[in-house]
Amino acid sequence: MSGKIRENFGSRFTVVMALAGSAIGLGNIWRFPYMVGEHGGAAFIIIYVLCSLFIALPIFFCESILGKSTGKDTFGALEAVAPGTKWKNEGYVALLGSFVIVSFYSVVGGWSVDFLIRSFTTGFAGETLGEAAGIFQKMTSSVWEPIACLTVFLGITALIVARGIEKGIGRFAKVMMPLLFIMIVVIVIRSCTLPGAEKGIEYLLKPDFSKIDGPAIAAALGQGFFSLSLGVGCVLTYSSYMRKEENVLYTGVWTAVFDTFFAILAGFAIMPAVFSAGLEPSAGPSLVYETLPVIFSRMGRIVPVIFFLTILIAALTSSMSMLEVLVTWLVDQKGISRRKATLLFFCACWVLGCVCAVSSKVFSVCDFMSSNVFMMIGALVFALVVGWKMSRSEVRSQFTNYGTSHKAGAVFPVVWFLIKWVAPAGIVIIAVTNLL
Ligand code: PFF
Repeated sequence: MSGKIRENFGSRFTVVMALAGSAIGLGNIWRFPYMVGEHGGAAFIIIYVLCSLFIALPIFFCESILGKSTGKDTFGALEAVAPGTKWKNEGYVALLGSFVIVSFYSVVGGWSVDFLIRSFTTGFAGETLGEAAGIFQKMTSSVWEPIACLTVFLGITALIVARGIEKGIGRFAKVMMPLLFIMIVVIVIRSCTLPGAEKGIEYLLKPDFSKIDGPAIAAALGQGFFSLSLGVGCVLTYSSYMRKEENVLYTGVWTAVFDTFFAILAGFAIMPAVFSAGLEPSAGPSLVYETLPVIFSRMGRIVPVIFFLTILIAALTSSMSMLEVLVTWLVDQKGISRRKATLLFFCACWVLGCVCAVSSKVFSVCDFMSSNVFMMIGALVFALVVGWKMSRSEVRSQFTNYGTSHKAGAVFPVVWFLIKWVAPAGIVIIAVTNLL
């Protein structure tokens, strides 16, 4: 232990913005809108909200309780609540998960740096869709360009993390998150007022319950986990920097509300524009970096700038939460200074990031392993430790701030049942479905 007094985020607003910053990221922008359209529109949104409410949110509470009650990193927290057991080994899985995600995530963050610069300089105006696809493919198949952009992205992430919880992460999140919402609303307004936009709105909203099957439910849950940054210790670590009077129920519910709201806004920013251009949506990089730049550039010079700035900020607030998991571990467990710890992990993530940038195979393995293996194991362990190793009265006391929060007290019996039974069973079912 460093022996110093642990930093904290300060105000409640800052904690919620930091947690929402971790949650809102690439997952909201390039996966959620497409998944909604593919899996039955409003019907999928309903399933997503139910899965988030009954499985993802209880896991969020577990991580938050572990972090806040112990004020420690993932290893320290698990050791504190289950001393002398093997549960703390989950700390290795969480570290590996955060390390892998931050590395491949930085590659995509780097692309947004690249495209932000391009939207300032060339603006994509006058390009055809084919030409834009060519730019992206040329960029990703070159070596130095993605690596240079990844270095910038990871460098900014590290600079923020090195400044600390309050002056770095907290300050960045509380200024940037409101800006992020304003920017996405501007794009939503532009996009939904285009001719033919109603087809995109219909794609997102028309409920088709016949598309709700096992894989759709598994997809909703997997997306809920990824989107709320669960299972790799992010929520646990951030919660360890909460003030003791903070309320786990309040911060969890607001984070989930902002996260879902932003994902739906992203859908309304993207799909109406895609349909109004007479195109079919796709998922992932091809949508964001091949199709959208051209469509948005037709809406005015400033729109691609706002769009790539939105992606960049959303990705930065997520990547810094993963880097913080690694840094907090070194600081808490090894007594290394924050600056040194950040530098060490900057170097390690940079190396794996470079490998991901040049090898799409390694990139896909990292992507697959993180959401299907590391996050699932982590989420299961957090639910089991809180639901089965901690006593009901201890969890209740933490959840209700020692009995002072009456709202938390009122919902606790339901939350306890979800933590103990529903969440672990749900995780096992999705993990098996996804792996098969
Ligand atoms: N929640 C982020 C997103 O939706 O893009 C991704 C993420 C961040 C996953 C932090 C995991 C994590 F620990």
